[in-house]
Amino acid sequence: MARIPKETVDQIIHHADIVEVVGDFVSLKKKGQNMWACCPFHHEKSPSFSVAPAKGLYKCFGCGKAGGVVQFIMDIEGTSYVEALKYLAKKYGIDVQEEEKTPEQQLAQNEKDSQFIVSNWAKDHYHRLLEHDDEGQSVGWSYLRQRGLNQTTISTFELGYSLDQWDNLLKSATAAGYEQKYLEKTGLVVVKEDDNGQDTGRRYDRFRGRVMFPIHNVSGRVIGFGARTLKPHDKTAKYLNSPESEIYHKSDVLYGLYQARQAVRSEEQCYLVEGYLDVLSLHQGGVKNVVSTSGTSLTDGQIRLVKRYTDNVTVLYDGDAAGIRASLRGIDMLLEGGLNVRVVLFPDGDDPDSYIRKVGDQRFKDYLETASQDFIQFKTDLVSREAAHDPVKKAEAIREVLQSIAKVPDPIKRQVFLQQTSQTFGIDEQVIISEYNKLARQPTAKPGTSNGGTSTGSSGSGAGFQPETRNQSLRPSRQLSPEEEAEALMYGASPDDLAGGSDATEELEPVPDILERCEREVVRLLLLYSAQPLAPEVSVAQYLLEQLDDTTFKTGIYADMLHLCREELNQGRWPEVRTLIQHGRADIRSVVAELATEKYELSPNWTTHQIYVPRELDVLQPACDNAILRLNKVNVERELAVRLEALRHPTDEAEMMENLQTIHLLKQMDNQLAGLLGTVIPRLSL
Ligand code: UTP
Ligand code: MN
Repeated sequence: MARIPKETVDQIIHHADIVEVVGDFVSLKKKGQNMWACCPFHHEKSPSFSVAPAKGLYKCFGCGKAGGVVQFIMDIEGTSYVEALKYLAKKYGIDVQEEEKTPEQQLAQNEKDSQFIVSNWAKDHYHRLLEHDDEGQSVGWSYLRQRGLNQTTISTFELGYSLDQWDNLLKSATAAGYEQKYLEKTGLVVVKEDDNGQDTGRRYDRFRGRVMFPIHNVSGRVIGFGARTLKPHDKTAKYLNSPESEIYHKSDVLYGLYQARQAVRSEEQCYLVEGYLDVLSLHQGGVKNVVSTSGTSLTDGQIRLVKRYTDNVTVLYDGDAAGIRASLRGIDMLLEGGLNVRVVLFPDGDDPDSYIRKVGDQRFKDYLETASQDFIQFKTDLVSREAAHDPVKKAEAIREVLQSIAKVPDPIKRQVFLQQTSQTFGIDEQVIISEYNKLARQPTAKPGTSNGGTSTGSSGSGAGFQPETRNQSLRPSRQLSPEEEAEALMYGASPDDLAGGSDATEELEPVPDILERCEREVVRLLLLYSAQPLAPEVSVAQYLLEQLDDTTFKTGIYADMLHLCREELNQGRWPEVRTLIQHGRADIRSVVAELATEKYELSPNWTTHQIYVPRELDVLQPACDNAILRLNKVNVERELAVRLEALRHPTDEAEMMENLQTIHLLKQMDNQLAGLLGTVIPRLSL
């Protein structure tokens, strides 16, 4: 189906360097043989996304996404194989010969491709009009020149102009063979509806008589437009923007990032401004690491996007106080995202665009250096000034600052900020700290991002549930970092290579907990994988429940859950998280939630070796066997302990003899189980 010849495909794959390709989207850091970054496919605070240059592979140990160069582009862009190849061909200057087709058919493998293609065509169309059309020149071009923009900037940002007509784009696109459907889906053309929301059949261009600012995604594809009116007294909005579409998600886009990303990385700094013109003027003036939120308030998605390239953000503010107050919240979000935030304030009445035009490039850059302040310090100064001689306001001001500090994930930085706050307000540090602790304990502060010691995990209702909390506080000890573990496993180490020790886990915890943990593990496998086939016609649930036929669980909650699972199976349903999470009992619901969300579960033998099971699904049979054998062994050992204890207080000889026999039997069983357990430790097949 691919229309790119095999030799060309080979050539592309041969030239494409995984580190270069991935490096355009995330900031990779070398550690060991691999490169690491925070994963661009899921939200995380510490890097579990790795690139192995030698193998030409990427893999995220958090979300599991993995593949080679082409797959990476497909994943990050959501495009087809052919489109991904085209992207790489362009990056490496490789010519791709294609057969003659209608424009969309040429490349479109899916809906998104079609929308990308028509947006790209529209961008070229608007740009042509700006450069070569009379109206484009006299109206659009002259406006941009008057705003001080030069040819290079206009080309770099691919600016354009839309004619002041109802259907210029619609007609031109249709004539060029583009389907109307995609013009509508991308919002370039508006569907005229009547008062009842019925399609009238009429269509017209969304953008007319405006300067066009194409919005690119990080790989340089056009996904939407911003469009500025040139009529000073236009009754419509100054800027019109493309609506959300399959390819344009406003909350995940920063204007200018495509043009800024290299500079953001090399300068290790990203300047955040509000407007399109601010980006253009600064870029032209040599401040190339600048992006814009396009007038909307900052979103989580945008913050994550920045964080792929740097940890340092400087927010450039227009000088009016109301505006500053309004954006404090957005800045708190930057802090929450783990970014280091600085602030530059411009003199009243100026925005970054007007200021750089006023003072010139060099003085502007100097100003960025000298006027930039740490955000917390900036906020502290701001609110302390506002509260100058009013003690009530002052207390409120301190609380506001402390709220921001609570957003900082790094405890050392928090400590420094608390000291600063104490100095600025002239209040004893102990008082500040105790106030901070009160505040961080309030439920509004997110657990984990607030200070330590306040979040004690989830609800933990129900008596049977309590020991679990104890278990968890023991569990995190001595784990390898995800990086260390991933590195080891990626290079084919087996668990046995990595650990020599015998069963150290048992010494770590009180005996009753082992049993509880074994029972928990069985229930977990039962719930999470109930329907998964082990052998033909035997699923995990059937297998486990059969194995447990004459076992009773000692831990109340797990005994109840085992019973529930049996009932489900008897009713002809798989016991599943989906259904049990709805259960009437809160303690059951919360255990189900815990089991289902546990990030990595360690089967006991893995725990011993301190290695995670990367894909439990691949080792289900040994995992189930392991859990059952383990449980049986613990039960046998408990029984053995009871019998041995009884030997010490003998009543009559018959009983003693019986006991001795049983003990002999139990010991045999114990040995057998130990032997079996030794053989089922799953080996990784990586
Ligand atoms: P500004 O009003 O500050 O515009 O809005 P600007 O970028 O400085 O443009 P000029 O200098 O007046 O030409 C900041 C941003 O808010 C968005 C745009 O992204 C704009 O760049 N905005 C503003 C809209 O989306 N719609 C509007 O009507 C106004
Ligand atoms: Mn402006």
